[in-house]
Amino acid sequence: MTERAEKPFLYVVVCAAGIAAGVTELITAAQRRGWEAGVIATPVAMGGFFDTGAVEARTGRPVRSAWRSPGDPRPFPPPDAVVVAPATFNTLNKWAAGLADTLAVGTLCEAAGLGVPIAVLPCVADALAAHPAYRDSLTRLRGMGVRIADPYTGEPGPDGHRPRFGWERGLDLLQRP
Ligand SMILES: Cc1cc2nc3c(=O)[nH]c(=O)nc-3n(C[C@H](O)[C@H](O)[C@H](O)COP(=O)(O)O)c2cc1C
Repeated sequence: MTERAEKPFLYVVVCAAGIAAGVTELITAAQRRGWEAGVIATPVAMGGFFDTGAVEARTGRPVRSAWRSPGDPRPFPPPDAVVVAPATFNTLNKWAAGLADTLAVGTLCEAAGLGVPIAVLPCVADALAAHPAYRDSLTRLRGMGVRIADPYTGEPGPDGHRPRFGWERGLDLLQRP
C-alpha cells in the first residue's frame, strides 16, 4: 500500500555537482515552510557529493538512489512537488530526452507526466551550458511546465568567492502560480 504523508511531501532530487554538499539547507528551509521532504540522489551524487547520513537524520527517511525490488513497499509517499537541486548538465539532458536510466531521472519523467509541480536549480558551468543540446533540453523542459531558475555556474566571481546558490529559490518557484 502507498503511504500517505500528513504534510505535503516534497521530493528533493540531488545530482552530482560540488554544490550538493549544502543540500541540507534546502531541506531545512522546506521543513520550515511546512513540507515533509525525502531525497532521491543520482548514483554519482551518492559517491561523496553530500552527507547522506546528515540528510537521513534531517528527513527521518533513507536517501533513495536505486529502484526498489518488485513487491517491496514504496519507500516514499507520492510527491506533491519536486525540487531538483543541484541539477546537473547530465541529468537535465537525460530528463529532456526521456532517458530514465537512474531512479532520479525516472522519477522526474514520471512526475512531469503526472503534472506534479517541479522546480529546477541548475548548477552548470558556462562552457557546458553553451552546448546546443543543453539549450534544447531547457526549452523542452520549460515546454513541459517545469520551472527553471536562473543559471548558476558554480564558478567563483571576480572577488574570488562563489556566489550563494540560493537554495530557497526552488521553494519560491513552486509557490508561483
Ligand atoms: C567535484 C565535481 C564537481 C562537479 N560539479 C558539477 C557541476 O557543478 N555541474 C555539472 O553539471 N556537473 C558537475 N560535475 C560532473 C558530474 O558529476 C557528472 O557529469 C556526472 O556524470 C553527473 O551525474 P548525475 O547527473 O547522474 O548526477 C562535477 C564532478 C565532480 C567530480
